[in-house]
Amino acid sequence: MRTGQGTIAVLFAASLTWLTVVAAVGAGGPQRESRPPTVTVTALRTEYMQNPIGIDAAKPRLSWQLRSEVRGVSQSAYQVRVARSEQDLLAGRRLLWDSGKITSEESIHRPYGGPPIPSETTCYWQVRAWDGRGTPTPWSEVATWETGLLAPGDWTAKWIEPNLPEDLKKSGPSPMLRRDFSLNGTVRRARAYVTSHGLYEIVLNGKRVGDQAFTPGWTSYNKRLQYQTYDVTSLLRRGQNTVGATLGNGWYRGTVMGGRRNVYGEHLALLLQIHVTYADGRDETIGTDEQWKASTGPILMSEIYDGETYDARLEKAGWSEPGYDDRAWTAVSVADRGKDLLVAPQGPPVRRIQELKPVKVFKTPAGDLVADMGQNMVGWVRIEAEGPAGTTLTLRHAEVLDKQGNIYTENLRGAKATARYTLKGGGREVFEPHFTFFGFRYVAVDGYPGELTPAKLTGVVIHSDMPVTGSFETSNPMINQLQHNIAWGQKGNFLDVPTDCPQRDERLGWTGDAQVFARTAAFNMDVAGFFTKWLADLAADQGRDGRVPHVIPDVLGSESRPAGGSAAWGDAAVVIPWTIYLAYGDVAILERQYASMARWVEFERRRAGDDFIWDGDQHFGDWLAYATTLSDYPGATTGKDLIATAFFAHSTDLMERVALVLDKKEDAARYHEQFERTKAAFVREFVTPNARVGENTQTAYVLALHFDLLPENMRARAAERLARDVREWGHLTTGFVGTPYLCHVLARYGYLKEAFLLLNRREYPSWLYPVTQGATTIWERWDGQRPDGSFQDRGMNSFNHYAYGSIGDWMYAVVAGIDIDAAAPGYRHIFIRPQPGGGFTKVGATHETMYGTVGSRWTLENGRFALTVTVPANTRATVTLPSARLADLTESERAVAIGTGITAVRQDKDSVVIDIGSGEYRFSYPMQ
Ligand code: BGC
Repeated sequence: MRTGQGTIAVLFAASLTWLTVVAAVGAGGPQRESRPPTVTVTALRTEYMQNPIGIDAAKPRLSWQLRSEVRGVSQSAYQVRVARSEQDLLAGRRLLWDSGKITSEESIHRPYGGPPIPSETTCYWQVRAWDGRGTPTPWSEVATWETGLLAPGDWTAKWIEPNLPEDLKKSGPSPMLRRDFSLNGTVRRARAYVTSHGLYEIVLNGKRVGDQAFTPGWTSYNKRLQYQTYDVTSLLRRGQNTVGATLGNGWYRGTVMGGRRNVYGEHLALLLQIHVTYADGRDETIGTDEQWKASTGPILMSEIYDGETYDARLEKAGWSEPGYDDRAWTAVSVADRGKDLLVAPQGPPVRRIQELKPVKVFKTPAGDLVADMGQNMVGWVRIEAEGPAGTTLTLRHAEVLDKQGNIYTENLRGAKATARYTLKGGGREVFEPHFTFFGFRYVAVDGYPGELTPAKLTGVVIHSDMPVTGSFETSNPMINQLQHNIAWGQKGNFLDVPTDCPQRDERLGWTGDAQVFARTAAFNMDVAGFFTKWLADLAADQGRDGRVPHVIPDVLGSESRPAGGSAAWGDAAVVIPWTIYLAYGDVAILERQYASMARWVEFERRRAGDDFIWDGDQHFGDWLAYATTLSDYPGATTGKDLIATAFFAHSTDLMERVALVLDKKEDAARYHEQFERTKAAFVREFVTPNARVGENTQTAYVLALHFDLLPENMRARAAERLARDVREWGHLTTGFVGTPYLCHVLARYGYLKEAFLLLNRREYPSWLYPVTQGATTIWERWDGQRPDGSFQDRGMNSFNHYAYGSIGDWMYAVVAGIDIDAAAPGYRHIFIRPQPGGGFTKVGATHETMYGTVGSRWTLENGRFALTVTVPANTRATVTLPSARLADLTESERAVAIGTGITAVRQDKDSVVIDIGSGEYRFSYPMQ
């Protein structure tokens, strides 16, 4: 407790349920006063966003949090009101919707229930709640949401194409587009609605519009295209104005894996509409039309994989401001590209999230001048230089250094990952690329005029702007570095789509990678919107036969020859919506994805046929599993038919649960039967009477046990075999597919020691081996770089591949012990079940749930276990204290008793199980 002037400390008085506030008042010392408990409503969100603009949900879902300093706070009722202006809202007048007092404990995803909201409309809303005793809170602060252009007919602007001869050239210059316009009044409100074929950047009167990157984002462009909405009120002025745009190839027509170009089309195009409302109420719309003109400028080449070439001598000074002479520019063509595929973004945009300074600049043995960013990062380097016109700086990017200490770029395969800037001369110049990104820790700079110091370089880290929602820290610095590496793997690869890796000529939304990592991802960051968007593309790109493409958006297959259908990859269609439902209590995602999920499971069923064994198809298998011999193909160790059948069973099982959530009883019964039959088939085909599973590999046991495919009486025996295998090897042998569940299964069946052995192991293969090698991200392979400094196969050796980071889920859910109750998802009811061990003396994790922060922090010192639990208001938790005797247990230094938040206590074998309401609790006891 801190004391001193202005500091307020909060105590829980033993006999009072009211809190006592001790306020230190000047030199007079603390004075005591009592006041009734206060509950407030805060953190208002609409569709996961704070005050979003340009959304298209017809009935946006509203969420809020309760805050209180007292324990055991719940909501018994709520009232939401919505109005068209803040004044009306606060006065409770002319309301669009007043929910009235609704008796309900639900405080997340409450659908707006008023009349339909038209396009371009701001809604103001607030909420109040009644606590468990029926006391109302004050009305919350005011939040807003604003609709975008909801119907294709709202778009009066026309699609325009640059119509430049250079534009068609392979990797040619980026087109620029401009138009002057005048506004004859004071601007009260202005919005710009923008999208493109290719990537765009917009400038208004010389100022960049918005802070988003890689707009309009990457979707299955020929089925869904996002537009962005910007508040441009402050960028416009009465009189002359100019709007400019630059377009980049991006994913639309740039090169993607396998050298394919023009996947979505050959021509870049822009659709932009600015809607101005004047102070006097008049309206005006400026859009893309035949009055726009086009030219090329300083960006000579821009490609996702290859990088960017920029010649500052070709800049067109003042081009996006009034008064610029554009007579030499050419007329654009108006194109008929349709507006019915346009959708508002559901996920967060990509932004510049943070900046890093190089830790050093050094010369390699090969003579390269290299900056070390100290972190394998994704984004680019901003570089400043001063030199004569025509000087060209070349920046080459690399993730690692080789044995000799030179930058290693062979693992980038075909990606040139190079930025080139030519100076215009005459002073300090600053460069950043526009439509490309790099995955790198090292950047080699050639041609720098003068001395290159760290001050001249800044690493700009970009990714989807997902709020950070997790922290995990222990007494073991190596494990902390592992957590750091997992989080940076996520930062580097959640770039509008979940990519496999950010550096080589791939960077695609591989479904399997996302499937294995989704649960970990949802601990670290708020990924609800991010996956909602991506899953819509997954459904859009699913084959007619239900097959899920290997990558989403699907750039590898075609309508007639879809590339997809691999077990554990395609199962992303089912596993990820279920994961989002569990983590965020989001039923709508299940409703929206249901048809897609069902189609995938139906595809699996058809492939499996009458015997319910899915055999004979091509799969990636347990990708990159530990290989026992050099000739072992990645994933060859566990049979692919076994993996495929196991996933078919698992997805069927999840479908039964989803159908029950959605109250589709007949479907649930059908999936139940299918699950039973598939389990029986699995056992018949792959399990001996003595509980030997498949090829006796770790992954075989892990899948059979984690997916509950074995009869009860075989499980302990199978788990014992798994634990023995782990002990005999002394390490894991799993690949992408088995790794996420390995420690879960071991811990669940009582082999916590073996699980910690795997977690703490430092030699290859293990999670910590890369840490011993100085890794700052998760590697694609267990042995990407060997202890002697040599590299794994250069054809597939990414040093930023999050898949093996899937251990993160186990660290949060088991080591720290924060887990979801599927019966009350979204952390409405939380399990806190830490499992100490592994030599840790301290573990602490927090997670921002939809309700607020949940925390579990424990210490184990001198045989004494102390656990501090934080439970957000309007949720409950069940805490399991391992190896504990009730008689020895204290909470906040007192014997544990019902009351002050604790609602039930029981001794369960050698654990004590306690039900609690919200608040902070400090348990302590000598471990048995
Ligand atoms: C990717 C993987 C992906 C795999 C499919 C690789 O090239 O990088 O992460 O899942 O292909 O097996």
